[in-house]
Amino acid sequence: MIVKGLVRADDAVKSIDHGAGGVVVSNHGGRQLDTAVSTARALPAVADAVGGRAAVLVDGGIRRGADVAKALALGADAVLIGRPPLWGLAQGGEEGVQHVLTLLQSEFDNAMALLGVTHTADLSRDLIAD
Ligand SMILES: Cc1cc2nc3c(=O)[nH]c(=O)nc-3n(C[C@H](O)[C@H](O)[C@H](O)COP(=O)(O)O)c2cc1C
Repeated sequence: MIVKGLVRADDAVKSIDHGAGGVVVSNHGGRQLDTAVSTARALPAVADAVGGRAAVLVDGGIRRGADVAKALALGADAVLIGRPPLWGLAQGGEEGVQHVLTLLQSEFDNAMALLGVTHTADLSRDLIAD
């Protein structure tokens, strides 16, 4: 079971204590509560509190490959994307979705090269500017 839609460390800990195998740091794409905390801001504290006991995923505003690298650097094990593949679908059907994923992959590879890291495990917080 993965619990989606939390932005607080204590909620993540509670979820895991109740048996969740993972959490998704998410504010539902910012579509519910205006001015809700961004997931990039919430992620580090959640990742620290989880401490490797469960998977930490994140979504919301992942638009470029560099956003994926930043999320991993801030402590996510993986990212999820919501609207970009839908835009690809609307524009070009299955090929449009594939194009979005290919773009993200190549931008991610480029971001890794520019950051000078070859493994995702080497993406650390000190690579992110305040
Ligand atoms: C049209 C639409 C409907 C959504 N409905 C739900 C929902 O019913 N439950 C939910 O947890 N999240 C819902 N979400 C949020 C997504 O699951 C996801 O958290 C969000 O889209 C990620 O942000 P992104 O679109 O910026 O990548 C919805 C998002 C969109 C765009």
